[in-house]
Amino acid sequence: MTAQLNPRGDVAVLVPAAGAGLRLGPGAPKALRLLDGEPLLVHAVRRIAAAPSVRLIVIAAPAAELDAVRALLDPIAPVTVVAGGAERQQSVAKALAAVPGGIAIVLVHDAARALTPPELIESVAAAVRGGLPAVIPVLPVVDTVKEVGPGEIVLGTVDRAALRIVQTPQGFRHDVLAAAHAAGGDALTDDAGLVEKAGVEVTCVPGSELAMKITRPLDLILAEALLRVP
Ligand code: C5P
Repeated sequence: MTAQLNPRGDVAVLVPAAGAGLRLGPGAPKALRLLDGEPLLVHAVRRIAAAPSVRLIVIAAPAAELDAVRALLDPIAPVTVVAGGAERQQSVAKALAAVPGGIAIVLVHDAARALTPPELIESVAAAVRGGLPAVIPVLPVVDTVKEVGPGEIVLGTVDRAALRIVQTPQGFRHDVLAAAHAAGGDALTDDAGLVEKAGVEVTCVPGSELAMKITRPLDLILAEALLRVP
């Protein structure tokens, strides 16, 4: 059944999925890898659409695949599909350009975090709504972390108490993310990095084990098992 988005919601969620070769089948990129017979992107969008504050979902897809992505997601939820750019950061910028000024909060989410619960999407949005300009969901680092040099020689033990594993969705005040993208800069792996470079304070909130990135074969096995948990 197609989900309805909240027309009075104050949140747009951007999903950059414009990496090369967005096709199903062997060698498929992360966003379209199958989990329980459905692409990760479908699982992700279903959970985004279930978050009550979400008014708009924008997917950045390869220019040649816009219709295919629309057809894939049409039964799941109403989505806006735009052509991505050459780098992830440009794909996010293009998706951001499709968000009307009246939407105050913008989240950037990774399709590979396909089991991210709607509650995490809501808690990140709520933290931005509560006055924080930029919010990232994080988990503590549980393993001991070493810094190593040439020849795998240990240089030292890093204080893990000061480290965090960063997940998505990353949440921003709309104007803050727009200004960070307008300022541009080198391609970074996450949007909070751009905002940090712009001198804006980024705040961590608790993440979720369910928001794990599903990339390795072991992740797929865990994710299939999690789908069966009632
Ligand atoms: O290739 P990489 O792991 O950095 O991609 C991370 C995410 O960014 C993927 O979901 C990919 O589809 C997306 N991406 C994009 N536009 C690009 C390159 C990557 O939306 N030009």
